[in-house]
Amino acid sequence: MSNTATLEIGGNKYEFPIIEGSEGEKAIDIKTLRGATGGVITIDPGYKNTGSCESGITFLDGEKGILRYRGYSIEDLAEKADFLEVVYLLIFGELPTKEQHDKFHADIKDKAIVDEEVKKILDGFPKSAHPMGVLSSLTSALTAFNPSSVNVDSEEDLYRSIVKILGKFPVLVAWTMRKKQGLPLDYGDNSLGYVENILKMMFRKPNEEYTMNPILVNALDKLLILHADHEQNCSTSTVRIVGSSHAGLFASISAGISALWGPLHGGANQAVLEMLEAIREDGGDTKKYMAKAKDKSDPFRLMGFGHRVYKNFDPRAKIIKVAADEVLGDLGVEDPILDIAKGLEQEALKDEYFVQRKLYPNVDFYSGIIYRAMGIPTEMFTVMFALGRLPGWIAQWREMRQRKEPIGRPRQVYIGENYRNFVSLEKR
Ligand code: CMC
Repeated sequence: MSNTATLEIGGNKYEFPIIEGSEGEKAIDIKTLRGATGGVITIDPGYKNTGSCESGITFLDGEKGILRYRGYSIEDLAEKADFLEVVYLLIFGELPTKEQHDKFHADIKDKAIVDEEVKKILDGFPKSAHPMGVLSSLTSALTAFNPSSVNVDSEEDLYRSIVKILGKFPVLVAWTMRKKQGLPLDYGDNSLGYVENILKMMFRKPNEEYTMNPILVNALDKLLILHADHEQNCSTSTVRIVGSSHAGLFASISAGISALWGPLHGGANQAVLEMLEAIREDGGDTKKYMAKAKDKSDPFRLMGFGHRVYKNFDPRAKIIKVAADEVLGDLGVEDPILDIAKGLEQEALKDEYFVQRKLYPNVDFYSGIIYRAMGIPTEMFTVMFALGRLPGWIAQWREMRQRKEPIGRPRQVYIGENYRNFVSLEKR
């Protein structure tokens, strides 16, 4: 295969280099297209064919169902690593030594206090506020409490911001949930592991000792690892593009939280559970909902099915499905919702509409079932996704700034009115 691509426009030929990634992925480098052709651009709504950057963090092959962070398979990481190791790996590129791991954790704990004033902001929200909106606002507010700008050329400066957000974010997550439930807002326990601490902060009751359940710790650890990064998805692209204007890390992450909120992205985990509940309340007739999903005049989609990139299977869904069975079994939970989920999956996997369009269960089809078994309210599911995705956003933001990427600013094809003469108000 030639390493250039030729484009012919109006009889003129233009050559563009083809670049190749480390896994053999090819891309036509069109950086010079507009200048060379006198103004021609490409158009690709939804960016299905457009790479926005070169990245060394996450590799995924949607056809083969491969997902790797910094070269390590998601299967290995989910089975053998803990979340904090994966956080370190994603951000700094290598698995930490024991010493690096302990120092990293100690630095995070050191920065885990959130200014008490933040509680006043939280108080301003009605109890009915969606936790994702609250979390996005509080994360943005962190900027006001930590105003010094980050010198991205200084690894030390960057590191300080990274451990700050990793320390404070779980506190904000726990406060968001506890405020909704009318529970007191307090801090974590620095004697615990990162994930254990999150559970205790979320669930500790003011009138009893919190007992750590290793099954829940293990399940949450796995869920966070599976969500930790997913290359240039909607929220990550948002974080990179906001950061490309040199907006700070916390502000960029706040924007990423908003992007994640939508039901076509992270909000799907809440939408899946609400859909399964609705099916159960409607008598459990999965066939009826399959028909609705296929009916083009009905806007209903089978939530938790389909993926922009995975067109065979979502490797995260495979791991999560097994984990859901384990967690529910270990906790002795019998959930009719799980039966409905399994029923839907079985039908979809042999249905021509779903098979033809390569629609398979995605990561969010089963994650909500585990969160529910853990006692996490449905509205908090997407917040849990954000907690997992945080290291990915940080790693991608850091990479974007360190590679000195230009400000993200797409072009458009204008389809509006041509020049018109202005008509004054009294003559209209
Ligand atoms: N139910 C029914 N039909 C579907 C579904 C679905 N869940 N997903 C896609 N389709 C159909 C769609 O109508 C279209 O049909 P046709 O070719 O006849 O017009 C075809 O499949 C292709 O769909 P698309 O919308 O062009 O695909 P996309 O790559 O733009 O969208 C998606 C991917 C994830 C947004 C979409 O599959 C979807 O809306 N799924 C449900 C929401 C969901 O579960 N999202 C979580 C994604 S995983 C977590 C994450 O990474 O954020």
